[in-house]
Amino acid sequence: MLGRKDSLESSFSGANLFIPAPNSSLEVLIDNFKQQGLDIEDLVTLSGSHTIGRARCLNFRERIYEAKEEYHYGYDRYKRYTNFRRILGSICPVEGRDNKFAPLDLQTPKRFDNQYFINILGGNGLLGSDNVLIRQDLDGQITELVWAYASDEKLFFASFAKSMIKMGNINVLTGDEGEIRRNCRFINA
Ligand code: HEM
Repeated sequence: MLGRKDSLESSFSGANLFIPAPNSSLEVLIDNFKQQGLDIEDLVTLSGSHTIGRARCLNFRERIYEAKEEYHYGYDRYKRYTNFRRILGSICPVEGRDNKFAPLDLQTPKRFDNQYFINILGGNGLLGSDNVLIRQDLDGQITELVWAYASDEKLFFASFAKSMIKMGNINVLTGDEGEIRRNCRFINA
């Protein structure tokens, strides 16, 4: 069997130990990745995987109903941003339906492309952690990279492959340590 070795134990808290919360600040995200040997470029590039997949309401509700201050930046002038809230609001009410899903990339939810970066430039990242890449980027370094990926998909793909290999090399288990799981959600029976 081929694959990356996983733990011989299954622990919910263990699995969540180094995973940043979706409402983390940019500073926390950068620090979290740094602790794993991943730099800011890896953070931005790997976040691009949010071009596919889904998230549950409880993880992004505050993006729909967040503080009024968001409006003060003038985002509601853009129809797309208003649509963003309207669509998500129809999936997730102010309270309840915590486990309902919305696509992380509302535009092309099932295609692995560079749409994620176009989305976050428009303030349309689903998670807080997507949104802060642009909103809290004080020196503009991240925004520049996001622009580069948004305008050059091949560049994103090349960087993504590089960062995935880097991430895949973290804490590799060898020899008798761990096992390759038949189903990644369960230890082998
Ligand atoms: C920057 C830090 C990150 C945060 C805060 C974050 C957070 C999240 C959250 C909250 C969800 C939705 C989970 C749910 O609602 O059940 C999610 C989904 C997902 N994330 Fe991330 N993530 C991060 C980085 C990454 C990285 C590095 C990758 C892989 C390279 C990744 C790939 C995915 C994928 C593919 C999904 C969709 C899963 C599915 O639909 O089953 N994320 N992420």
